[in-house]
Amino acid sequence: MARKKIALIGAGMIGGTLAHLAAIKELGDIVLVDVAEGIPQGKALDLAQAGPVEGYDARLTGSQDYADLAGADVCIVTAGVARKPGMSRDDLLGINLKVMKAVGEGIKAHAPDSFVICVTNPLDAMVWALREFSGLPHNKVVGMAGVLDSARFRHFLAEEFNVSVEDVTAFVLGGHGDTMVPVPAYSTVGGIPIPDLIKMGWSTQEKIDAIVQRTRSGGGEIVGLLKTGSAFYAPATSAIMMAESYLKDKKRLLPAAANLTGQYGVDNLYVGVPVIIGAEGVERIVEIDLDDSAKANFQVSVDAVRELLDACKSIDPSLS
Ligand code: APR
Repeated sequence: MARKKIALIGAGMIGGTLAHLAAIKELGDIVLVDVAEGIPQGKALDLAQAGPVEGYDARLTGSQDYADLAGADVCIVTAGVARKPGMSRDDLLGINLKVMKAVGEGIKAHAPDSFVICVTNPLDAMVWALREFSGLPHNKVVGMAGVLDSARFRHFLAEEFNVSVEDVTAFVLGGHGDTMVPVPAYSTVGGIPIPDLIKMGWSTQEKIDAIVQRTRSGGGEIVGLLKTGSAFYAPATSAIMMAESYLKDKKRLLPAAANLTGQYGVDNLYVGVPVIIGAEGVERIVEIDLDDSAKANFQVSVDAVRELLDACKSIDPSLS
């Protein structure tokens, strides 16, 4: 059986970290594709030279040519620009939309059978645009946000409860932005839901509300600290988890930006919901019961994503 091929489009901070993780996990051979001259080749060579020490077998190459996507089983897209302090994810829209067009057309021409994971921000709009430009089936194009947002929520909850992150599960729905919807009722420590833990005196509603707020602005907190760019370790590991679920047909239930076709009362829009990822891509969209407040917050998130799609359509009328 031939080795799997992972194409990383964008060889910047997240792209390089993705390559390192994919190599360490031996998910397959890796090609880094980037418009920047020398960067993908340099990172590929550096990572290949780490192989003998770390003990991984993976062929790593770099390229400026989308033709090198050929044969990719998975494409992970981080091409575009990242946030600087003072910028919202939405400020990236105009520049990154053009990048999605180039990348989408590249995937359509060279890797039309791959499973595509978009990471570029503003996520929910960019994954939608990438799907439109690539023409791939909706179940083969997904956006990475929920795994990252829920990882941030899990980290903060584990700190609050002073328990291992391994025992904390968390649920985050909606768009990847300030309107995302962390859902405490579906978040647990060892299976005990957060509202029960509050009743048990482990925390207070006020503290959980503050954690929800910190999760919502979790990306911005890191941009403010780094000053030169945005988070890359946690976004990369989150995208790799999704790639692994597809490549190994693990059928993991993960929150991701998927195209809704009526679920949650939403049609023809990419937004964060629980999905099952297996060999067929997004195999199932899981519709859970939301209480009235989560429903209202989800709607705000959906409206914010719709506004971004309208902005995309006015920048590029071919998307209308
Ligand atoms: N094709 C391929 N690569 C491109 C293209 C293109 N058309 N346009 C830009 N790039 C490359 C840049 O040359 C750069 O190397 O994308 C890379 C982006 O890397 P970084 O600037 O380091 O950004 P990173 O931190 O990796 O984030 C990438 O993911 O989370 C989002 O908001 C983040 O949109 C940003 C993206």
